[in-house]
Amino acid sequence: MIKVAPSILSADFAHLGRDIEAISTADYVHVDVMDGMFVPNISIGIPVVASIRKVTDLPLDVHLMITKPVRYVEQFCDAGADIVTVHAEAAAGYQLERAVEMIHAAGAKAAASVKPHTPVEVLAPVMAQLDMVLIMSVEPGFSGQSYIEGSERKVARTVELARAVGAAPLIEVDGGIGVKTAPLVAAAGADVLVCGSAVCGADDPAAAIAQVTQAAEAARAAALASKEA
Ligand code: DX5
Ligand code: ZN
Repeated sequence: MIKVAPSILSADFAHLGRDIEAISTADYVHVDVMDGMFVPNISIGIPVVASIRKVTDLPLDVHLMITKPVRYVEQFCDAGADIVTVHAEAAAGYQLERAVEMIHAAGAKAAASVKPHTPVEVLAPVMAQLDMVLIMSVEPGFSGQSYIEGSERKVARTVELARAVGAAPLIEVDGGIGVKTAPLVAAAGADVLVCGSAVCGADDPAAAIAQVTQAAEAARAAALASKEA
């Protein structure tokens, strides 16, 4: 089953509770944390995650776009994150391994992400430990950008890499995902689709979630059927 994780970066932060209520049929709430260093934008942090935790039972999928995330992963787990994603580019040396260990020790699920120009192979040292891999299909920093063509090939490569080490992390894709692009990544093996503008920016977010899910599941089923044939 394909899961949808609406990104609240496209929400109205003055009415965040209302906008989270509007996506209650989603599978996760995707929370984009940006520090103005790793990406050229600043969004929200630990206190906002703690406040969101109080208004929804959906799992919080916290995407850390911050330098040296190892410094903060425990605090995000304590604030109520269910999944914490760190970027490989932001975690030099053994920091990626350390961050994954710390997230697990805090009782949350650990994910790692790569930007569009970073080969997914950099995740090989932690692949077997990961609960999820996040493939960025835009340069991180802003909602509303266009899907980078060919990102679905990286999704397929991630499936192969994970299989090669006997791992089966969920594969999440983030950036420019909507009814047109969801089928591409779903057919390639994506399990979780982050949708910012396509869902939180829609007039009817619940309808948008249903449309994206339906389009993705149809493409996934067709891809599986053609493999079996
Ligand atoms: C971008 C963020 C995304 C963003 C997605 O850096 O990680 O989660 O909100 O927005 P859309 O779906 O509009 O590309
Ligand atoms: Zn994100």
